[in-house]
Formats: sequence, structure tokens, C-alpha cells
Amino acid sequence: MQSLLKSNPTETSLKESDQIPALGRVYVETYGCQMNEYDTGVVKGILQKESYEIAQSVEESDLIFLNTCAIRENAHAKIYSRLQSLGYLKKKNPNLVIGILGCMAQNLGEDLFNQDLPLDLVVGPDNYRNLPEIINEIRSKGQIAPYQMTALSRTETYDDIEPQVINGIQAFVTVMRGCNNFCTFCVVPYTRGRERSRPIQSIVDEINSLVNLGVKQVTLLGQNVNSYNHEGVDFAGLVKAILENSKIERVRFSSPHPKDFPMHLIELMAKEERFSSNIHLPLQAGNSKVLSEMNRSYTKEEYLDLVGRIRNLIPHVGLTTDIIVGFPGETEEEFQETLEVVQVVGYDMAFMFKYSEREGTIAQKKLPDTVSEEEKSDRLTRLVELQTSISAKVNQEKIGQVFSVLVENTSKKSKQDICGRTPCGRMTVFPIPHGEASEWIGTLVNVKITQATSATLKGVWVG
Ligand code: 5AD
Ligand code: SF4
Repeated sequence: MQSLLKSNPTETSLKESDQIPALGRVYVETYGCQMNEYDTGVVKGILQKESYEIAQSVEESDLIFLNTCAIRENAHAKIYSRLQSLGYLKKKNPNLVIGILGCMAQNLGEDLFNQDLPLDLVVGPDNYRNLPEIINEIRSKGQIAPYQMTALSRTETYDDIEPQVINGIQAFVTVMRGCNNFCTFCVVPYTRGRERSRPIQSIVDEINSLVNLGVKQVTLLGQNVNSYNHEGVDFAGLVKAILENSKIERVRFSSPHPKDFPMHLIELMAKEERFSSNIHLPLQAGNSKVLSEMNRSYTKEEYLDLVGRIRNLIPHVGLTTDIIVGFPGETEEEFQETLEVVQVVGYDMAFMFKYSEREGTIAQKKLPDTVSEEEKSDRLTRLVELQTSISAKVNQEKIGQVFSVLVENTSKKSKQDICGRTPCGRMTVFPIPHGEASEWIGTLVNVKITQATSATLKGVWVG
């Protein structure tokens, strides 16, 4: 659906003399997940092709886009306050176009225009190709009017756009978009639409271009990355094709769903050194009844069984997870099972959240948000304490071991140190063995771990 809303009282006519310059300078600010970082690259790529310039700050921009997230309540709150803080620029320059992109745009749509915010455009994640046209239309009408485009697509993968979202030697590559799972707490199926996968060749081509630019490690992205399926080729088939047809040194992926971990994928990971043995395996809850109400499609036992199969084949696997506390109806006893699973699995790291009700989700319609804020906070504190002690223990067990580290950067804390990840995904800091940091960045080196905290490993180069 596309709509040009005409009822905005803040419509501003442009005088001939203060027309926006040629095509203008664009600033895109990114919130939320890695997929949004990639999409910001897609948006910039689309606009640069049309001769827009990329601005370095909001102050020097003719167009400002906030690429937003909707996953939890505080994601929305951040955007409202950021928009309000941009209001002064609109007063200075009435020609300035401010737009909301991403999941919050898709989730709230035209409601966003009813909140007295300095806002002209609301464009959802499947409509970025239309941005040049939308901007032209607004401008050709000689006015800035609220414009919304939030149709979801069953096919859009932006597969011909190579946004080159590179950070040093690392880059993101989106391989699939959307989600068919409808976990009852989650807004993603409504903001990102149905699953669709990119053709293998376009992914391999993009990775080869990145390798030519010096990239050594790619993270394959998708809302359910391991549900990838293009013309019968599954996620393991895709990774095999990437390893066979490119010189990329390390392949990571985010975020998978536990339901799509067939044995041949685990075996591939065990066998291929270039396929990072770091698995993010979202648990969400440790009690089977809560999992069923979340529509997660596995029980506690099935999840633990999968962890067992993974550990059997990949003993050094790094496991991380996402957990929600205080899901509607979750009792103290059910929460205790989450603590128990966390203890049994011994994750390297976890992202832990209080449940927040999201507009349009099944939980919001059917499951009243019964756990009090106080109780959610208390559960989160206990869970974080447990996980922090486990992370410290798991890291300390690595002292004395040698890992192959792909050097990413100089350390944030000291120019004398460099850092990179082990194959199991742990960030490791160690002194520059000799020469300059730049000589080491992008190389694979052996590092012996000498110290560990809950967040980082420290070590020394051993050749
Ligand atoms: N409330 C709290 N956490 C949520 N997540 C997704 N939706 C919600 C919600 N409504 C968490 C899940 C997911 C991660 C990206 O965010 O743990 O895996
Ligand atoms: Fe959301 Fe569940 Fe889909 Fe992940 S699998 S994006 S949590 S609905």
C-alpha cells in the first residue's frame, strides 16, 4: 500500500530561491541489528547511484534518515527522542527531508505522522528502491508532505546491490530476509515479511568483490539465516559454495533458529576450518510450556539434545544465546528452568531481555503481560549474575590453550595491543608481536591465552 497523506498541517511551500541543491546530501543513522547496518548500506548504495552525496553529519544534510528497530519498547523510545532533537534543523532549513526507515516505519506506519514529530517520510524495509522516486515526487510537488510506503514484498532481496558494509577486514552480507516463524513475542514477521533467499551466485559474487577489497571475514545475515533455501540449496549448501568459490578466510553467521540445525550443517562446521565454530543459538526460555506459548517449535529437552549433538562434533564450539525473562504467565518455577538450562549449557555469552509487549504480535493479542516490572527486573538481575559468572569460568578454562586468531584491529584500550576473534568467536587481545599493527591486521596468528575476564581473553603471540 502506498499513500500520500495530504492532511499534514506542517506542509511547507518552497520558494524558487531556496530549492534544495541538485540531488542533495544524505545522512543515514542506524539503530538495531546488523541487518539494519547492511540495509543502511543498501539505502546509501541506491541513493549514491542516483547522484546523492553521503553527508558526514546531520548538520550538513538535505536528507536525514533514521533506519530504525522495533524489537523492544526502548527501541521506539530512542527514535522519538532522536526525532525531537532533530526538530531544530527543520526550523533552520524547511527544505530538509527527515525520514524513518526500517522496522519501526513498517510497524507504526502512518501513526508516526500523528505525533507532532519533524517527519516527512516513512518507508519500510522492502521499499528502499523507491526512495529516489519518493524524494523526487515530494520535491517536484514543491512541498514537503508526509509520504508513506510500507508494502511488504515476497521477493525483494536487493540481490543486485552490493552495499560493501565493511568494517576493517570484516563485512556483512545478507543472504536471506524475513521470517515465517511467528514467535508470539516478536514483531519481525510483521516488519520484515516472509522468508526469501538470495541466489547463491549473487552472494558468492558479492563475497568475491569484498575479498578483492581486502575483506577476510564475512558474517552472513538473515532473520533466520539457517532457514536459507534457494531453489533447493540449503544453508549448508550455501556455505559450501562460498568456501569452494571464494578465498574468504572466515565465514560467520547471524542469527540462526535452533529448528534448522541438521547434522550435515554441524558436520560441515566441524570439518571446515574457515567456517567459524561460533553458534548463536537463541534459547528464549528454558521451560517447555513457556517455549510452546512462545511458539518456538522446540522443547527444553530438544534444545539440550541439539546442544549435545553440536558439542559432540565440535568440542571447542562457542555458544551464545538470547533469553527473554518475564514472558506472559512465566512463573518463578518456570524461570528457574531457564537458570538451569543456562547453567547446563554454559554459554560463552548471552543477550538477556525483559519481555516487552509489541504492537501486533500474537502475545499482545492473546497473552496479557502479567509479570510485574519489578519481577522482570529481579529475574533479569539474577540471570545476568549467573551468566556473568559462567562467562568468566568458560573464559578462564581457555587459559593455557592456543587459538588461531584472525586479527581485526588495534585494541580500543591500548595502541600497543591488537585484537581479533578465536574460531569460537571470543574476542582476544594481545601485544603486537613486532612491527606495526597494520602489518598484523587481516592475518591469522596463533595466540596462547594467559588471562581471562567474563568479556575478553588476553594472550600472547606464539607464531
Ligand atoms: N521482548 C523482549 N525481547 C524480545 N526479543 C524479541 N522480541 C522481544 C520482546 N517482545 C529478543 C529475543 C530475540 C532478540 C533479538 O530480541 O530474544 O532473539
Ligand atoms: Fe522473531 Fe522468532 Fe522470527 Fe526470530 S524466529 S525473527 S524471534 S519470529
